[in-house]
Amino acid sequence: MHKAAYARETFLTRLYGLDNLPTLPLVVSQVLAIVQDPEFNIRDLQRVIESDPPLAAKVLKVANSAYYSRKNPAKSIDDAIVALGMEGICSVCSTIEIISAFSGFDDWLFDRNQLWKHSVATGLLAESMAKREGIPTKSSMFLAGLLHDIGWIVLDVIAPDFLANALWAGYQSREWSTHLERALIGIDHAEAGGLFLKSWGLPDDIITLVRWHHNTRALPNAMPELYLLEAANSLSPFEFSLNPAQVSFHPELLYRTMPGSTNDAHDELKERYAKDIERVAEQTEEALSWLDS
Ligand SMILES: [Fe+2]
Ligand SMILES: [Fe+2]
Repeated sequence: MHKAAYARETFLTRLYGLDNLPTLPLVVSQVLAIVQDPEFNIRDLQRVIESDPPLAAKVLKVANSAYYSRKNPAKSIDDAIVALGMEGICSVCSTIEIISAFSGFDDWLFDRNQLWKHSVATGLLAESMAKREGIPTKSSMFLAGLLHDIGWIVLDVIAPDFLANALWAGYQSREWSTHLERALIGIDHAEAGGLFLKSWGLPDDIITLVRWHHNTRALPNAMPELYLLEAANSLSPFEFSLNPAQVSFHPELLYRTMPGSTNDAHDELKERYAKDIERVAEQTEEALSWLDS
């Protein structure tokens, strides 16, 4: 069997055959229900948070951080909902629960916290860019951003052997591409993430965004959400860099090398969204403040 085909087979067998990846956190399914049905009662989410003391404590910590807190400290989840707003409480809960779901799995080949920072900021930025441009979005742009690079974690957890090979090849050739990932791991991180999220039963639109976030042109019917996600990914104030053996790895460079996405275009976007990028950097640090405790 060809090397890439063998690697792919192995990845798929591990993804579907082994019971060693986290399942979809209950809170995230509640958040999805809220996104899909605006009539959904926020009190249901409140009850779930209140019945989970570690989650409730983390939500309160974020609600009382400098960015969100008002004059009065949030003492209850009710107060936290007021401080964070409906969208905010959904984002904070999804962040806490998804990161915690993976906390029992060691990171082998890269700094996972740096990836989470990059991802939270991508989600917040995508959401705020959609609002600023008045682009209607069917999906939760925050969740799409939070999950867009989840494939890296899946690869790190179930295929560190193949990922290490790819990183070594990237180090030697001084370049990285999803093409290299496919040649050596049999799959790229975007497709790996999409397949993993399918196993979580996530809505198709979020899976599509994750699956194609490095290859917008491959989709016959371009989705505005996909361009938003791609831009937010490249503008995220936290870059995700893999540094095995001092390789500096910037998936964001892929965006800049795509036809039509010149450095100029990137700089223009950076200028246009400068304020959002600054705010999102602060918000991201606060949204992850519970990680240190
Ligand atoms: Fe990516
Ligand atoms: Fe990314």
